[in-house]
Amino acid sequence: MKIIEDINLETKFIGKKIIYLETVGSTNTYLKEIGNIEKDGTVVISEEQTKGRGRLGRSFKSNSGEGIYMSILLKPNISLEKASFITLIVGASIIKTFDKLGVKSLMKWPNDIILNNKKIGGVLTELSCEKDSINYIVTGIGINVKTLDFDDEIKDKATSIYKEGYDISRIDIIREILVNFERLYNLYIENDDKEDTLRICRQFSAIINKKVYVTKNNNKELVTCIDINNNGDLVVKDSYQKVKNIVSGEVSIRGENGYI
Ligand code: BTN
Repeated sequence: MKIIEDINLETKFIGKKIIYLETVGSTNTYLKEIGNIEKDGTVVISEEQTKGRGRLGRSFKSNSGEGIYMSILLKPNISLEKASFITLIVGASIIKTFDKLGVKSLMKWPNDIILNNKKIGGVLTELSCEKDSINYIVTGIGINVKTLDFDDEIKDKATSIYKEGYDISRIDIIREILVNFERLYNLYIENDDKEDTLRICRQFSAIINKKVYVTKNNNKELVTCIDINNNGDLVVKDSYQKVKNIVSGEVSIRGENGYI
């Protein structure tokens, strides 16, 4: 393990301490275990994860040196119901980063990052709380940067930045994500200002105006995505033209004819 105190990041508190690991089960799990003693904004980055995790109990393939596997510790003074918006803030920070670096990525609400109709990464936000109050939040970012080979079961729906023709260094992506994240996060925590995050999530949405299957508790429904509302919920129209809001929770979204 290496502690990096300063990588010349233009941030006030995010990434002022970075714990750098060669290998770990999961950076989210690791950071959750030390969340009580580490300071707000601490970042864990690993070259490899042996048990990388995604939403809904899925795994996240994390081969050594091929991707970004990073988690951020947050200690905001907010209510529990405000926490899920942080996933959208992280997603918007990633999309904004790629836009600046010339990569046209999109967001598949609530947590997938898409390039050329395939997944290049995702966000996993987890909470430690007592009763209704948050001890800390760990938000994890996984991005396939250089991966060329994907297992058979995901090769039709996953890709990497390099595979899609972009040669960008991981550190440049990490720096930019952390800077973007701190700005959008502070706006939210300090002023409840969600405007920029929502604008990015809407403008770069992979699913607005598309038909998708929404699956929740074994219930699968084909809907048309209309918008993301001011709470960050997905607004859809069902087959009876009834408009509904979908809250992120345990929901899985799949395109009408494939991954998106
Ligand atoms: C998803 O695809 O559902 C989310 C993937 C999140 C992966 C990242 S990699 C860093 C952090 N540690 C984990 O175990 N998961 C997240």
